[in-house]
Amino acid sequence: MGDKKADLVLKNCSLVSVYTREIIPKTQISIVGDRIAYVGPDASHTINPKTAVMDVKGKYVSPGFVDPHLHIDQFVLPSEFAKKSLLCGVTSLFSDPIDIVSVAGYKGFQEFLKLGENLPIRIFQVVPGGLPVDRKFSNSKTLSLSQEKTAIKHPDVVGLGEVFSWTKVTLRDSKTMKSLSTMLDNGCIINGHTAGASGKKLNAYVSSGILSCHEPTNFDQVLERLRLGMWIMIREGSIRRDLKEIIPKVLSHGTYLDRLMFCSDGLDPLDLTKYGHIDHCIKESIKLGLQPIDAITMASKNCFDYYNMGKDLGGIAPGKLADIIIFNNLKSIKPSKVFVGGKLVVSNGSIVSPIKKKVIPSWIKNTVKLKKFSSKDFEIKSKKNKVQANTILMQTEIITKLSSVELETSSGSVLPSPDKDVWKVAAFDRIHGTKNHVVGFLENFGADIGAFASTWSFHENDLIIIGSNDSDMALAANTLRKNQGGLAVVKSGKIKSLLPLQMAGIVSTDPFEKVSSNFEQINNTIVDSGCKFSRPHLIPLFLPFLALPSIRILSRGIIDVKNRSYINPIN
Ligand SMILES: [Fe+2]
Repeated sequence: MGDKKADLVLKNCSLVSVYTREIIPKTQISIVGDRIAYVGPDASHTINPKTAVMDVKGKYVSPGFVDPHLHIDQFVLPSEFAKKSLLCGVTSLFSDPIDIVSVAGYKGFQEFLKLGENLPIRIFQVVPGGLPVDRKFSNSKTLSLSQEKTAIKHPDVVGLGEVFSWTKVTLRDSKTMKSLSTMLDNGCIINGHTAGASGKKLNAYVSSGILSCHEPTNFDQVLERLRLGMWIMIREGSIRRDLKEIIPKVLSHGTYLDRLMFCSDGLDPLDLTKYGHIDHCIKESIKLGLQPIDAITMASKNCFDYYNMGKDLGGIAPGKLADIIIFNNLKSIKPSKVFVGGKLVVSNGSIVSPIKKKVIPSWIKNTVKLKKFSSKDFEIKSKKNKVQANTILMQTEIITKLSSVELETSSGSVLPSPDKDVWKVAAFDRIHGTKNHVVGFLENFGADIGAFASTWSFHENDLIIIGSNDSDMALAANTLRKNQGGLAVVKSGKIKSLLPLQMAGIVSTDPFEKVSSNFEQINNTIVDSGCKFSRPHLIPLFLPFLALPSIRILSRGIIDVKNRSYINPIN
């Protein structure tokens, strides 16, 4: 009513209305504190001499963009991620810190919540919903039911993260059922993950109250899920890019758009710099034929409607939190200004809001609980002259297959064969520091290096080492032990590249640019050495991931996923 005057009025806005899907010229927007008070042709009643009035000169003004599902417990701290993401016009992130929890349990979850607080970007969190992937083999930490009940009382926690082992739902796993009930009883959202599910299994999954999925890789999967009442997050991130396949068919089919969103599922620092974030999804979709206003609506309003937060966020209207971006044109959406809660956080393409560095406690920087390695730790003994070895054959960085190859022995130890493109691969339990470990063989890696080691691996976070000789494998493992986590490439007794990931062995405490350059070096060193795959960091990342077929390795052994059985490295 103008009884209380605005702190800020934006004049001459071309308002992107996600409620009516129209551009409304010459709109004025009044902001009081962190909320919008007035949207219309004349805000003069809200202005007094103390009100800041900004003429945006006909530029487009839209709600901030949202990533409704991503893992920001990767590569860089949330504060570093926020700096890049805000420049892309993203004002809200829905974080699923599954790997932090797998390493550091509930204590790690609480610590990660603190890292997301008081930043100039909104970070909402979910309790990771899929750990452990398979209790028979997995060592990963998780939250107990009572910890989940406590966690959802935190104001930033909005529900349960991707329940990716969908068989735990269809087979009514007891803890999973109790967890789902707790969430539903408390009005929380449960994110889904239904790769490979269809028909009666998908129906059963949806009936449990899980209403979203970000796994469809084609339009048929999108349509089947929409028809069952689900919401779809179309994924465009570092793990997969599905826009090109899905958007054209959404358009040709004339699909109802109100239950579609974009999500990244996680972005590495190189991709975030090269492509951008949700702004990239909007621009790509526009290129594929989607109307700009529809793309912006999918990237804002739809996400908050899905999370039942539409009364506070998602559009520019009275009563809503003032998360607003300003940009020049509807095709190359490049925000010149970003407001979060009415505060200017980006101006002329730079962050203008201070971001305080947070203290990371030392306990979470000490998670590689292993003794010093020697070459002997990587030996595979045999009394035979030749053995038939079972190998994990890499078909892509992610897809594996069981294979077999004859290998020679020397002094009672089975030798890998770089000539046959057969390497050793080892997994050690670095989280609990138990003696659980295994050494086996990996085929089709191709890189002429001594060893490649990583402490970041979905969602076991074992120490994984791939190598051509035992001494380089020991050096790579010891390098990560010394740094308390990261990725390292070693050749002939020398460290060729290193990406330290000091926090829980999965997140670096270094600045974004340094992490980005270290990460680039890791992949370049391996690719330049002849690796058959362009993104080799994904190999140790996915090797222990039990939610995928066919052969996986983790500290408890080499696993045939379908048969849920162990495989010996040699026969
Ligand atoms: Fe995910």
